[in-house]
Amino acid sequence: MSDDAASLELLRAPVGTHDLLPGASDRWVALLGLFANHAHLYGYGLIQTPLFEDVRLFKRGVGTETEVVGKEMYEFEDRGGRAMALRPEGTASVVRAFLQARPTPPFRAWYAAPIFRYERPQAGRYRQHHQVGIEVLGISDPDVDVEVLGLGIDYLTGLGLQGFTLRLNTLGDSACRPQYLEELRAYFHDHAPELCDEHAAKIDRNPLRILDCKTESCRAVSVGAPSMLDALCVDCGTHFERVKEGLDARGIAYFLDQRLVRGLDYYTRTAFEVTLDLGDGELTLLGGGRYDGLVEVLGGPSTPGIGFGSGIERVLLACDRQGVFAVPPRSPLAYVIDTTDGRAARDLVAELRAGGIATERAYGNRSMKSQFKTADRSGARFALVVGERELESGTVTIRDLRGDGEQLVVLRAEVLSFLSNRTITTPEGSS
Ligand code: HAM
Repeated sequence: MSDDAASLELLRAPVGTHDLLPGASDRWVALLGLFANHAHLYGYGLIQTPLFEDVRLFKRGVGTETEVVGKEMYEFEDRGGRAMALRPEGTASVVRAFLQARPTPPFRAWYAAPIFRYERPQAGRYRQHHQVGIEVLGISDPDVDVEVLGLGIDYLTGLGLQGFTLRLNTLGDSACRPQYLEELRAYFHDHAPELCDEHAAKIDRNPLRILDCKTESCRAVSVGAPSMLDALCVDCGTHFERVKEGLDARGIAYFLDQRLVRGLDYYTRTAFEVTLDLGDGELTLLGGGRYDGLVEVLGGPSTPGIGFGSGIERVLLACDRQGVFAVPPRSPLAYVIDTTDGRAARDLVAELRAGGIATERAYGNRSMKSQFKTADRSGARFALVVGERELESGTVTIRDLRGDGEQLVVLRAEVLSFLSNRTITTPEGSS
């Protein structure tokens, strides 16, 4: 590679990743605020775990047979020779943190976290994406499944999204799933020649994955495959009935999707995804389920768990398509224009900010015209002009930058209270 090409590459975010810049990030801030509010309503507290963990956590917790761990994980050796991985999903880390801190269950945590998967980038699929998600540990009651789903649906609805589908399934547990998997293996062996090459070779290792295969041949075979619903043990059957009843009681519509198996190995019982048909393809906005065996797999006491993760980029893509959740850029209320030596601007912005007024200013003795230009560009509602005349008379000239450019002179000492009142009466509420 030439030096020029190399330095150009250096200036680009790595393939499948994106910068989030001021302005565009206002929408993220609003989304995170909305999610945090819903999480608070349902009793969740924020959790933050490291970006990287011992690779064994994900291998053991999520499963080496899964694409996410087997094919897509960013693994590296640190300088101390430890095998580490960038977090390829959020649940295993939360369970690890729970086991380390040992809080008294039930434990309810929400997160907003970057996730790393070496996937082929395309719209809505990135190598670094970000998930908001929740996890509950220590409650096996099916009513909590309904609460988890309720929070997810409330969040998506709160963004203004419509027309999405909640796909629901149950994957059974250690009492009934082994027997079901045997039935499934036997069925797929009978149809092995009809399966795609990849899955014909995987019948014994992971027959559930075949149900999820998108190829025509596997889909056709899957239609006649035995259903988990017919193989549920009494406890799993009762649990699932109560989940469905709870969803009905809350008025949350769902579609029973017996082919929904999820891509991570830890799931038991309730599994779900929320998808949105965009016309030119389907987007999975949120996915999750129960993982009653995961804490034990990672070396802890038997503890039920359930949660979901939802891709922020995907959800915003869906919002764009539906023309919802358009957050206006946050602009300052005031912009100080100082045509003297800048000291007046220095002191005025400090006072206004301390008083809770979002304020910007120009620097470096620029002409009045050029300062007005930047004031306009900043989106500020008011320009506060301080020139020699204002300095002498102890006043500030305030010009309304929207509307008809109305202008009035206010005593310097009254600028803060003038603007404070405007933050209440300004319909745009731009501070
Ligand atoms: P997941 O289905 O692998 O589940 O991911 C959750 C969500 O993250 C997806 O529904 C999608 O919205 C988003 N997502 C996944 N991969 C990408 C990508 N490459 N680019 C953009 N967005 C993506 C989990 O990760 C589980 N930990 C969820 C969970 C929590 N289950 C129980 N608790």
